[in-house]
Amino acid sequence: MATKKIKLAVLASGGGTNLQSIIDQCSQGCLDATIELVISNNPGAGALERAERAGISTVCIDHRTFGKREDFDRAVVAKLQKSGAELIVLAGFMRIITEPFLEAFPQRIINIHPALLPAFPGLHVQQKAIDYGAKFSGCTVHFVDGGVDTGPIIAQAVVPVLADDSEDTLAARILVQEHKIYPQVIQWFAEGRIHLDQRQVKIKGCSRVETAQVNPPLQ
Ligand code: GRF
Repeated sequence: MATKKIKLAVLASGGGTNLQSIIDQCSQGCLDATIELVISNNPGAGALERAERAGISTVCIDHRTFGKREDFDRAVVAKLQKSGAELIVLAGFMRIITEPFLEAFPQRIINIHPALLPAFPGLHVQQKAIDYGAKFSGCTVHFVDGGVDTGPIIAQAVVPVLADDSEDTLAARILVQEHKIYPQVIQWFAEGRIHLDQRQVKIKGCSRVETAQVNPPLQ
């Protein structure tokens, strides 16, 4: 039986490569989802251009025109509710989410972060992973809660940190994985396979990962 398409709204502040991967997977029929709306807080966001090119409705709500975070969030929520979105996908959305937003979409807001949480929350995390000397980093898709990158983890992908990595080369290696795991998580939502129990997220019917990775490799 075909899966019913889930209605998405994507929020992005930057270039929008994650948005693009979701657009592409939808148009290739690999994702049972439709993007109803793209919202940015940044009038210059490449994500807005990508959405317009794909014929998706866009709204720019400039956070600088609001005195309080909550007022900005209420304006965002009003647009999201009007769009009929069932799942809110943060894709490089550089704003902290406040109570009015969380309450409007309980367990329906997800984010992607370019590190292996709970290590390296916040900003500039690729450089932080390099500076710390981590041998692996990666990306995390998680539910959004009231903290910064603290919500329950849905999926992670691991990449090695190489000795000659710069922030840019590591970010690029991580992005390749982001573009794979974010659409996959959205598809799991569409299929109703994601279950949250306290902090534990279970995906119904998934096979197990049994292999370990070591960096540097064993000799
Ligand atoms: C990604 O690395 C994402 O993990 C982070 O912001 C970046 C957004 O990239 N939250 P893009 O705008 O999707 O290209």
